[in-house]
Amino acid sequence: MAQQALEKALNVFQFKHKGIYFISNVTSPEVIDAVEYMEIRDSDVFLVTYPKSGTVWTQQILSLIFNEGHRNGTENIDNMTRVPWIDYNIRNIDMDSRPSPRLFSSHLPYYLMPRDLKFKKGKIIYVCRNPKDVSVSFYHFIKLFCKLDCMIDWESFFNIYMEGRVIGGSWFDHVRGWYTHKEDFNILFLTYEEMKKDLRSAVLKICKFVDIKLDEKAIDIVLEKASFKNMKEDPLANYSFIPEDIIDHSRGSYLRKGTIGDWKNIMTVAQSEKLDQMYKEKMGDLPIKFCWNIKEEAES
Ligand code: A3P
Repeated sequence: MAQQALEKALNVFQFKHKGIYFISNVTSPEVIDAVEYMEIRDSDVFLVTYPKSGTVWTQQILSLIFNEGHRNGTENIDNMTRVPWIDYNIRNIDMDSRPSPRLFSSHLPYYLMPRDLKFKKGKIIYVCRNPKDVSVSFYHFIKLFCKLDCMIDWESFFNIYMEGRVIGGSWFDHVRGWYTHKEDFNILFLTYEEMKKDLRSAVLKICKFVDIKLDEKAIDIVLEKASFKNMKEDPLANYSFIPEDIIDHSRGSYLRKGTIGDWKNIMTVAQSEKLDQMYKEKMGDLPIKFCWNIKEEAES
């Protein structure tokens, strides 16, 4: 019953276009289709993620790397303006008139991205996170939406997530799609877990990839301002700027726990095994490694 109610509410909350679910009212099939024909510059950098994989964190890192005014706090520009969404352009930003280098965010699968990117114009940073922590983060996140007006229980959400009937579609298809097509793009693959374990190395990798040299002092500022604690309190980074008619901020925060392995606090053994099985079937042949527990090294 609970699952049926959630499915019914999701049918209104999101729409399906070209195999993927998007949030209704904040984007449209026309917006998504237009992305494909967006003109790309060599200096463009796209941050691409499946939802709940560390997007706002990486937006903050990119904002800090690219903008001295973000590092020293002299500019009052939030991350949604610094790294705007191409698939959810809720501020109607004119992407074409933005000065270079442009930064963008997206949850799109590889096949809906701007065509020029496939000719290795521009750069893509793809951040992924283990699908168990993503599912739990997603569950808490979906409850923040005002328009999703129904009781949401973990078990129902988990079943729907496993079937890929959520924003961004199936985690397995998204990550597999990007991973198996990475040679088509100019791409840096990162995992949330490697950022969590050694943020300095991840930031240095990003700097090298986008060809920006920062001195030690600037790197230290990036690390400090991109810490979970700092970001949670930073109104330019914590997504408290999302309008109240979309997100009910009294229900929780975008920056919730920021850990590896929180899935163990909610997932049953049967659910965990079901996900392991699906992982084996859909991802087992790929050399990609995930870390599922803060104490473990990455394993498949
Ligand atoms: P949790 O819900 O597990 O806490 P996205 O930005 O793609 O929606 O991902 C959100 C997840 O990234 C949330 O996970 C959030 O807490 C986590 N996150 C955001 N900023 C972070 C940071 N500075 N350090 C660690 N995790 C962060």
